[in-house]
This record gives sequence, C-alpha cells and structure tokens, in this order.
Amino acid sequence: MQHIYKKGTNNEKPVLLLLHGTGGNEHDLISLADILDPEASILSVRGNVLENGMPRFFKRLAEGVFDEEDLIFRTNKLNGFLDEAAAKYKFDRQNIVAIGYSNGANIAASLLFHFNDALKGAILHHPMVPRRGITLPDLTGIQVFIAAGTNDPICPQRESVELQQMLEDASASVGVQWVNTGHQLTMTEVEAAKQWYQQVY
Ligand code: MLT
Repeated sequence: MQHIYKKGTNNEKPVLLLLHGTGGNEHDLISLADILDPEASILSVRGNVLENGMPRFFKRLAEGVFDEEDLIFRTNKLNGFLDEAAAKYKFDRQNIVAIGYSNGANIAASLLFHFNDALKGAILHHPMVPRRGITLPDLTGIQVFIAAGTNDPICPQRESVELQQMLEDASASVGVQWVNTGHQLTMTEVEAAKQWYQQVY
C-alpha cells in the first residue's frame, strides 16, 4: 500500500497509523499526528480503492452502505500490510494506535471488529458501525476514543453510539467526545483526542 513512514524520536511511543477520509491521502493527517504526539513514529497509508478518483479504504455501494465483502477483504489486506511494515521498519507490531477519520475510522473500526491484536488502540473521528451481525473478538485492554458530531449527516450520531456499545460489549475501553458540528474534523476534537491520548499512553 502506498504510505509514508516517519520514524519518531521515542521508540516506546505507539506507532501512529494514519487513515484518511474519502478523497484524502497519506499526507492529510500528518499534522494531526504531530499535534497528538510529536515523538511517535508515523505510518500513514493511502487507501487503494478509487471511487471516481477518490481514494478510500474499501468499496461502498452507496453513501453509508458498505460493500461488506470488499470491507472484509481490505481489512485483511491492511492487517497484513501492518505485519509487513512492522518487519520492514522494525517497530513493535503490538504497539500500533490508529487515528482514522471517516472512511479511515471505519476501516480502523473494522480491524477491531475482526482481530483482537491488530491495534493496541484507536482514535476514531466520525466513525460508523463497519459491520453488524458478527461476534467481535475479545477486546480487553484495547483503548478506543470516538469523536463525533451531533449533526453529522454522513456519520450520524446513532452510529457512534451503537459503535461505542458494540466495542464496550467486546470489553474495549471507550472514551467519547461529542462536538456540536457536522462531518468536519475540528480542532476541538483533536484537542480532546490529545488529552485522552496523554492520559492513556
Ligand atoms: C464511508 O463510506 O466510510 C462513510 O460513509 C464515510 C465516508 O467516507 O464518506
């Protein structure tokens, strides 16, 4: 997968896996990672599905309607890519924290839905429920932060509420920050994510 790896100054810190929104790329969230933890290594990945030229991490059938078969396929691919990147760049595979926005948050959530050891934690900005009707793995010890807009027309509030419940039912620890906005990623939630991150890591 096309990506940027930037080695941090402190090997103890998590490797921040950056996953952009629809139409974004691997450059989008770098400044956000720098705000969150300037000492951490960064692995920023470009989604390799194209929707009318816009990069995404998996196909969708319509807005908010995911191509489940492709979602599972791409989730497995991304997990495999993380194994390869850890070997190539010599970082601890068990020490990855994802930061995803929108479509990137949804593939990060999908990693959590399918593997108990893909991520050590995740910050999900404006996520949705990636799949329903499956049993999640035991996510004990996994820390998740959800930041979402109460007026988000693309990732509605009820999706974040349901996602929080599903992750907690699977024993993950979940923090939530609501912002009184729509789908845009705001500094308010970035600051909230930073506070959460500093408490947890
Ligand atoms: C998705 O397709 O993952 C969500 O609808 C969010 C988006 O990327 O627009």
